[in-house]
Amino acid sequence: MEKDKKVIFSGIQASGLLTLGNYIGALRNWTKLQADYDCVFGIMDLHSITVRQDPAAFRKRSLEILTLYIASGIDCERNILFFQSHVPAHAELAWTLGCYAYMGELSRMTQFKDKSARHAENINSGLFTYPVLMAADILLYQADLVPVGMDQKQHLELSRDLALRFNGIYGDVFTVPEAYIGKVGARIMSLQEPTRKMSKSDENPNGYIAMLDDPDTILRKIKRAVTDSGGEVAYREGKDGVNNLLGIYCAVTDTTIEQAERAFEGKGYGDFKAAVGEAVVECLRPVQERYRDLSNNKDYVESVYRAGAERAGRTAAKTLRKVYRKIGFTDR
Ligand code: TYM
Repeated sequence: MEKDKKVIFSGIQASGLLTLGNYIGALRNWTKLQADYDCVFGIMDLHSITVRQDPAAFRKRSLEILTLYIASGIDCERNILFFQSHVPAHAELAWTLGCYAYMGELSRMTQFKDKSARHAENINSGLFTYPVLMAADILLYQADLVPVGMDQKQHLELSRDLALRFNGIYGDVFTVPEAYIGKVGARIMSLQEPTRKMSKSDENPNGYIAMLDDPDTILRKIKRAVTDSGGEVAYREGKDGVNNLLGIYCAVTDTTIEQAERAFEGKGYGDFKAAVGEAVVECLRPVQERYRDLSNNKDYVESVYRAGAERAGRTAAKTLRKVYRKIGFTDR
């Protein structure tokens, strides 16, 4: 990959079904940005094993996510789509960067604190060094921009710190990446507990919309979404449920909060929820249709990730060679 265009790197863990949060916060922005950048999108399967995975379900889900990337409209001819575990340089650079990351800064990561609280029986060292692997992902491709949802902002800052620290010692080795966080939809909340983010690991499926939920399920989940005892469709402090639904509506219809508030003036929550549900169904419909077509074409999907691993591997190996040389490892 020659750098005539700026480079984007992003990825999603393969730890559960993709949700509307992943779609609005990440995937959809990727499809919008791809025209102007050289893009590398990974299925971050190495990250997924910080939590125990059932092998058969994990394998199936990883492929499902790759298929959803393509179905969402990522152009896999122009961009690189690959599985992180297919490119060994990720694990190699992660080890290297781990020797430049401090215990203190990793202990401050809120995702580590949350996950260790939720998986108290399995606080493994991978959970702790998770953000270092993420920095390796990004820095290997000399990415300029990393489109993510708000929850990844802190990890991105650590990636920048590590890049700057390394460059400070060895000269210009890494591009220092910037986070790209969309204006709307950077934090889609749970439909049942609107003060928590919508998450694929939520035990209550009514809290999230999976990208592959059928239309009836989507309409039902939104109808059941928690709101408040008021009746005004307005974006206000304390109206977390309504604010979240408004955010979802605006993201999927490309409208502003003000436009949406005007559109629902004088309408009750029932009408509002029905409209949000319809808008989400319409937004996901073409993606789901393409997903079904692609699922019947396994050879094609396989050819995409095989070619992706090869191209990603070349770029990643080049950066890793440079890093190793700077550190002083003996040339092969
Ligand atoms: P992950 O798999 O949790 O989420 C993938 C992407 O989806 C966004 N996202 C959301 N956006 C808005 N609202 C939500 N409720 C919501 N839930 C998730 C996330 O912000 C993210 O952009 N560590 C990363 C995966 C990763 C990565 C990377 C990302 C590994 N290496 C390198 C970028 C670059 C993660 O767990 O995301």
